[in-house]
Amino acid sequence: MDGNGRWAGKRRLKRFLGHQQGAEAVHFVVETASRIDLPWLTLYAFSLENNLRRPKTEVSFLMRLLSAYLTSNVQRMNDNNVRIHYVGRTHELPNEVQERMQWAAEATQQNTGTTLTLALNYGARSELVDAFKRLYAEIEQKHIRLDDITEQDIQRHLYTAHMPDPDLLIRTSGEMRISNYLLWQIAYTEIFVTNRLWPDFRGLHMLEAIEDFQRRERRYGGLSDGSESDDVTSLPANQLVNS
Ligand code: IPE
Ligand code: MG
Repeated sequence: MDGNGRWAGKRRLKRFLGHQQGAEAVHFVVETASRIDLPWLTLYAFSLENNLRRPKTEVSFLMRLLSAYLTSNVQRMNDNNVRIHYVGRTHELPNEVQERMQWAAEATQQNTGTTLTLALNYGARSELVDAFKRLYAEIEQKHIRLDDITEQDIQRHLYTAHMPDPDLLIRTSGEMRISNYLLWQIAYTEIFVTNRLWPDFRGLHMLEAIEDFQRRERRYGGLSDGSESDDVTSLPANQLVNS
């Protein structure tokens, strides 16, 4: 959800007004997700690096905005059958924010439609550190052999263990980088970058991204469906490399 500051700057407004407008944009996208029965929507709302590197005043504004967003949107989430979850080092957020988060999660937990996951105080590398710590504890406790460790053992210790890997990652504001988001999970995710700034992003734009995604061919390192491999077994060794 990038571009709140630039949205404000283009209008000669203060940054916080961009964040306010960004918070407004969230429910449009969530509502569209719910209407098309999107099972999972995960929003990178606040990174660990945002928390560490932004001025205290901006961070505390974002925390108040998050609480206010939750307070005024739980009813809407219930109307749209949306339940809310979180990923990140959320235990490091202010207590009153954690209480609001807990309240919103409990108030929406019975919903069966879209799961809206907010990544808050989230960083993918720290998620991996947390996962490795938990895996190490388990290895010690259960005397697991290192040779028996698989990708699944790492996957099931991530914050997202209960979720499928994302199919599509949408990056707003034109930045061509991942910024420490779901690094493990996006190994085969399709990426869609739009120049649109987050406060201007609506459900329609998400649908456009999904339409683009639907035209792509995903091969996961394999071949296209129906394409035949060449028979190269009898190719002489001196013809393997073009000299
Ligand atoms: C994204 O907007 C919102 C958060 C990080 C909370 P930015 O604040 O990063 O906006 P730009 O990058 O300055 O435009
Ligand atoms: Mg930014």
